Amino acid sequence: MAKPFYLTTPLYYVNAKPHIGHAYTTVVADTLARAHRQRGERVFLLTGTDEHGEKISQAAQEQGISAKEFVDRNSDTFHSLWKLLNISYDKFIRTSDPAHQVVVQKVLEKLKPQLELGSYKFWYCVPCETSFGLSEVEAAKALCPQCQRPVSQVEEEDYFLPLEKHRAWLKETIQKNPNFIRPESRRNEVLGMLTNELPALCVTRPKERVPWGIPVPFSPNHTTYVWFDALINYISALEWPDNEKFHHYWEESGGPLHLVGKDIIRHHCLYWPIILHALGLPLPKMVFAHGWWLVKGEKMSKSKGNIVDPQAVVEAYGLDAVRYFMLRDVPFGDDGIFSEEALIKRINSDLANDLGNLVYRTLTMIEKHAGGKIPAGKPDSGLVELAAQAEAGVWSGLSNLAPGDALKSLWELITRANKLVEERAPWTLAKEGKRQELESFLYQLADTVRAIALLLWPFLPGTAESTWKQLGFTTDLGTQHLPAALKEHIPPGQAISKGAPLFPRLQ
Ligand code: ME8
Ligand code: MG
Repeated sequence: MAKPFYLTTPLYYVNAKPHIGHAYTTVVADTLARAHRQRGERVFLLTGTDEHGEKISQAAQEQGISAKEFVDRNSDTFHSLWKLLNISYDKFIRTSDPAHQVVVQKVLEKLKPQLELGSYKFWYCVPCETSFGLSEVEAAKALCPQCQRPVSQVEEEDYFLPLEKHRAWLKETIQKNPNFIRPESRRNEVLGMLTNELPALCVTRPKERVPWGIPVPFSPNHTTYVWFDALINYISALEWPDNEKFHHYWEESGGPLHLVGKDIIRHHCLYWPIILHALGLPLPKMVFAHGWWLVKGEKMSKSKGNIVDPQAVVEAYGLDAVRYFMLRDVPFGDDGIFSEEALIKRINSDLANDLGNLVYRTLTMIEKHAGGKIPAGKPDSGLVELAAQAEAGVWSGLSNLAPGDALKSLWELITRANKLVEERAPWTLAKEGKRQELESFLYQLADTVRAIALLLWPFLPGTAESTWKQLGFTTDLGTQHLPAALKEHIPPGQAISKGAPLFPRLQ
């Protein structure tokens, strides 16, 4: 049976339109999902929208429409953006889905004996939908320790999940599993959080104050805290407590890989493991918290409004240029700056000069010197070996959550193939009438471009599919099994169908 692989993005708040940050996590997730599928694994890529809570109901009120109407409309904008970005998700979950709500209620019922009804004072940040202990906020300033915006004090009767009694266990688990939280810097940050006593987590809200939330089954006066509701999506999407999908994707796979931004590690690395532990469920395989796209040194953010609109950049530069830039320009885990200058530089050097040029000149020469058909020839063992090395580099980069390194390995093959064209100078071979040598070289080049298309597919699916078709293949590139396909070679005689250059140079 195929190996299962479970991969998730955060569920994005629908308080405003998505920006490049949301596109980023989702594009990386899509690339990983495609790469695992291509290697024969059974992948479940989950994404979706987070739709309850104070921040959303405030945003709906500001627009003068009902919360329901507001979340339906905004969830659609995420949906359409994923379509535009070619995201191959397996499920798009919404926390307003009735099936999800039922699971959240089951979880609350199950944890009920562990919950405490009480009224503890805490600080609350609505944009972060996050509570902080009294000692975590300087009372005179009352600013969120996470986003520096004003927080307010809350004291009301709610249900709390005690966290402190799980602290030693969690600390030990993180210490024993160096891969549970990555990168290292985030792991240390979480271990730092675990040196202090953990205040209990408030998991409900009075219905009167926050009506826009999932009803708490055992308390008609309460709704569910938005983060508690949202985290449960990772198991409700698998139809927990029904066993079949949960067993396959959560247990047999070794647990999900949660891709998140570093803004939400407290929720994913403290609350979520403790909730799972309290439920008696196994932990995720890994939480990888990447860095932020910054604008003028600050995190790009929906609530701050300092955003780069992904639809606008895709319309201006093309989808795969944007995907390439996000995957290649900044090491996954670090902060980055989304600048058009840097994007244009990548397009001109890596995409136009290297990749686009290789594909275009290969096909042009086949048109000109071989009548538009793949000439007779045999694969070159050196190039086949380089393609195998590129494959190994791509896979080790992706397995290590370093898509930039994976692309670097693939670009070594592209660069080498371009160099070889200069060295072998097929135009000279043509002039000198060395037909057989020329044809055999063009065959090897086309075969290498074929391998490049296969390897490129998870990153730039549209470009890879176009290259595949231009080489004359009528099969679906997306369904090729990579290890098997790399052992095969391009058939001589296949009619190519050259298109325009993949990436025109920009000024
Ligand atoms: O936190 N740079 O939703 P959210 C990079 N609903 N990535 C960014 C980013 C930036 N400037 N801004 C946002 C929530 N992101 C909760 C999650 S999960 C059960 C609930 C990405 O809409 C990044 O993945 O605020 C970050 O963690 C996520 O969007 C936060 O999205
Ligand atoms: Mg946020």
